Amino acid sequence: MNEGLKIAVFASGKGSNLQAIIDAIESGKLLNSEVVCVISNKKDAGALEIAKSNGISAYYIASENYSNRDDFDSAIIDVLNFHSVNLILLAGYLKLLSPIIVQKYRNRILNIHPALLPKFGGKGMYGLNVHRAVIESGEKISGATVHLVDEEYDHGPIIIQESVELDPDETPESLQKKIQKIEHKIYPEAVKLFAEGKIKIQNEIIMK
Ligand code: GAR
Repeated sequence: MNEGLKIAVFASGKGSNLQAIIDAIESGKLLNSEVVCVISNKKDAGALEIAKSNGISAYYIASENYSNRDDFDSAIIDVLNFHSVNLILLAGYLKLLSPIIVQKYRNRILNIHPALLPKFGGKGMYGLNVHRAVIESGEKISGATVHLVDEEYDHGPIIIQESVELDPDETPESLQKKIQKIEHKIYPEAVKLFAEGKIKIQNEIIMK
């Protein structure tokens, strides 16, 4: 792909994955890419602070502040258009994207999830909830997944997964820590594959 990547990161939380992407760009691991804006539905999201301290445009856009979903979606689309965004990265964004945005950016939206999808994904499956469910189910391994986004929560063709073994005394907190390390490695890797045009979708099967 010759076109440079203009990335919008959507985040509701502390923003460690946003930071990992910024670091990968700054260290030269991710070439020809720029995070042009960060959008959050949470006013106090750490991700917005990270954006500001890196000179990246930061937007708080919450559905509660709009009288209907269309206006909320339009506010998001205006920002994406203004910054000529050509890749969206969901990094702990806890709201389902509207079909209109998914359609507009079809195959140009990635998500990171802290488990080995298709297991332990879906509505309500975020943060420690995911790790608690994994431990309670008696799984011996977990991990992280980067995938293309479709109209469902944590759903769409998988790009990269990396696994980790659970320790016998694993807690949701200790598992989260281990998996975040993996996330910070594989998310930039997935964006690199995308930037290099190495992700091709053929009948919904990803070729790398
Ligand atoms: C990450 O662990 C990400 O995988 C998860 O939210 C966290 C955000 O952390 N996403 C989901 O659970 C999506 N279903 P961060 O704000 O430090 O990047």
